[in-house]
Amino acid sequence: MACVVVVGTQWGDEGKGKVVDLLTEGVDGIVRFQGGNNAGHTLVVGGQKFILHLIPSGVLHPEKTCFIGNGVVVDPTVLLGEIDRLAERGVMVGPERLRISDRAHLIMPWHQALDLAREKAKGKDAIGTTGRGIGPCYEDKVARRGIRMADLVEEEILRAKLEEILPEKNFLLEKFLGDTPFTLEEIFEPYREMGQRLKPLVANVSLILEETTRRGGTILFEGAQGTHLDIDHGTYPFVTSSNPTAGGACMGAGVGPSAISGVLAVAKAYTTRVGAGPFPTECLDQVGEHLVREGVEYGATTGRRRRCGWLDTVILRYSARISGFTSMAVTKLDVLTGLPNLRICTAYRVRGQLTQDMPPVGYGLEDCEPVYEDWPGWQQPLREVRRWEDLPEAARRYIERMEALVGLPADLVSVGPQREQMIIRRAPWK
Ligand code: GDP
Ligand code: IMO
Ligand code: MG
Repeated sequence: MACVVVVGTQWGDEGKGKVVDLLTEGVDGIVRFQGGNNAGHTLVVGGQKFILHLIPSGVLHPEKTCFIGNGVVVDPTVLLGEIDRLAERGVMVGPERLRISDRAHLIMPWHQALDLAREKAKGKDAIGTTGRGIGPCYEDKVARRGIRMADLVEEEILRAKLEEILPEKNFLLEKFLGDTPFTLEEIFEPYREMGQRLKPLVANVSLILEETTRRGGTILFEGAQGTHLDIDHGTYPFVTSSNPTAGGACMGAGVGPSAISGVLAVAKAYTTRVGAGPFPTECLDQVGEHLVREGVEYGATTGRRRRCGWLDTVILRYSARISGFTSMAVTKLDVLTGLPNLRICTAYRVRGQLTQDMPPVGYGLEDCEPVYEDWPGWQQPLREVRRWEDLPEAARRYIERMEALVGLPADLVSVGPQREQMIIRRAPWK
């Protein structure tokens, strides 16, 4: 049995969607285990581009089943919209192709209103959330007052839950935000209807995953966001509200750690970040401009320009420790073509002290000065390259240095957005 977790190693947008789509061929099921529609995972297949926010990136393979695990927060309006948009493009998403955990929590309209209002109130100190209601929904889950998928599909339970929850939400909306409160009926009716549409897809996902692996089937766990956005291990408070690290897969899908045999780290060949928070290797010069332009670094969810900088192996080693990576998929190597000189951050200097580790935000991270190694660049375009030995020597040296500094092999090297633009050096599940 080979069940692999795919984890983002930086601040999200590493190209997880593309990697998951590619690896789907070798597995039976694909599970999202955390986050919600803050994620934007891009697939380019047969010249067509698909951006998925909630549905796992295996969905373009008709014979595979995708799962939304209990750890995901689901906005049913967004999910149904995504299902409808896929149907318009000929991808029919029924119960054979998608199952949603009955234990997944729902993002309700007040979660989004609170997310946006809190960001506005923070002004210049805002986190730069995606404004999708992710944080407030996880807050309600932990406070034991959330609404789950199982509640949505049972009319009477849904009504009772809303009766219990609405007075407090309306108090917050009216008295704290100065917003209009919701009436029970205006929420109940559309949510009841969405519940009935989604009912055939709702299932005990953990149980199905166990049945699949017992039969010898394999599962791919698709992380959203990235290690440094993890609520526990990321650059808190500039993080998301879930655990995108490998341990999150167990909690968020309902499997035990012994079910997992590999953890694939997805790392961009440079670094990007959307939203606020420290970013030691950020380049606010023509190098940053090159990376934005050549990498088309604009958010797949909010369209925001991504902040760009040099490869940082301090954050990658940190990520490797937290998730126990077994190998790497390095993406967007093609974007570095044309830069005469490349820099790799190997350590930080914090207040005069050399360190190999990341201090927390507020305790030195914002004062970190990256220590760089310089490496020669290359001029050749890489998008047509499919074999390791056909890469320019400088590109191979760059990846080999990255492997040595992180202590992991780069099994996959991606050289373009399309499914086939990938150098496969070793299958990560072997
Ligand atoms: P995810 O959130 O980790 O799935 O990543 P996103 O989809 O948000 O962002 C990655 C972007 O890079 C998308 O536009 C992909 O189509 C694109 N992409 C992925 N791999 C490569 C690659 O190797 N080269 C280039 N140029 N683009 C890539
Ligand atoms: P994928 O899966 C990049 C960032 C937001 C913000 C912080 C908190 O596509 O890699 P949230 O809305 O989650 O409360 O925002 O996290 N963020 C992401 N950045 N890629 C993502 O997902 C992200 N999801 C959240 O920009 O800084
Ligand atoms: Mg993304």
